Amino acid sequence: MADYQRIYDERAEAYDALVAREDHAQNLLAALRAIRPLEGIDVVETGAGTGRVTRMVAPFARSVRAFDRSAHMLDVARSRLAADGARNVALAVASHASLPVDDASADLALEGWAFGHAVGWNPSGWVAEVEAHVRELARTLRPGGTLVLIETQGTSVEEPFAGGHALEPLHRHLVTALGFAHRCVRTDYAFASLDEAVERVGFFFGDAMVARLRARGTTTLPECTGVYWR
Ligand SMILES: C[S@@+](CC[C@H](N)C(=O)[O-])C[C@H]1O[C@@H](n2cnc3c(N)ncnc32)[C@H](O)[C@@H]1O
Repeated sequence: MADYQRIYDERAEAYDALVAREDHAQNLLAALRAIRPLEGIDVVETGAGTGRVTRMVAPFARSVRAFDRSAHMLDVARSRLAADGARNVALAVASHASLPVDDASADLALEGWAFGHAVGWNPSGWVAEVEAHVRELARTLRPGGTLVLIETQGTSVEEPFAGGHALEPLHRHLVTALGFAHRCVRTDYAFASLDEAVERVGFFFGDAMVARLRARGTTTLPECTGVYWR
């Protein structure tokens, strides 16, 4: 498995180039807007990384306060947001565990592809860790606010968790113990060429994924993404 922490500390540009190819059909924004209209709302985001979700919601929101523990990832987010001309986004280094945000000050609190790392990084304690992070995000919500988590349900698969996936226990916990509604959104990658796909995918998903890509011989890579809300 890739050393994700090192990627987030040292390879933010490569990460951003990979995720820029994801969700080429732009299904995720439509899914978010169906859950919670984004116009004029205040958003808090943790694990914002290079700003993929931040940039999705910023054009509609009144304000976005976005956090990540990697200053390196946020540097890329800052330059992408500046290029977009976004003026309503504040970025800062912070941990999921303690967000520098007042209680009850947001309409939407979210994370994308960030909480799931606890499953691999903290195998015996991820349930308590994820629950604490969910509570911390929920703390920031006004009454009637919406909490949204976005997590992978599998790469190179056409159905959620096809063939098994390390984050399936997280999915079950979010749905059965924490009461999240959920849906699967296809966020397939589309690359300009097979060479580009191989170059972008390998460092993050590993050699086995590159082999699968070569075997498929296509420039698209299916991805199932779980969107959870309550
Ligand atoms: C897979 S990236 C997702 C980034 C972004 N949300 C996106 O959609 O591309 C995971 C991010 O979570 C951040 N992260 C992991 N654990 C964290 C923690 N405990 N507190 C804050 N950020 C964390 C990492 O630094 C990384 O930027």
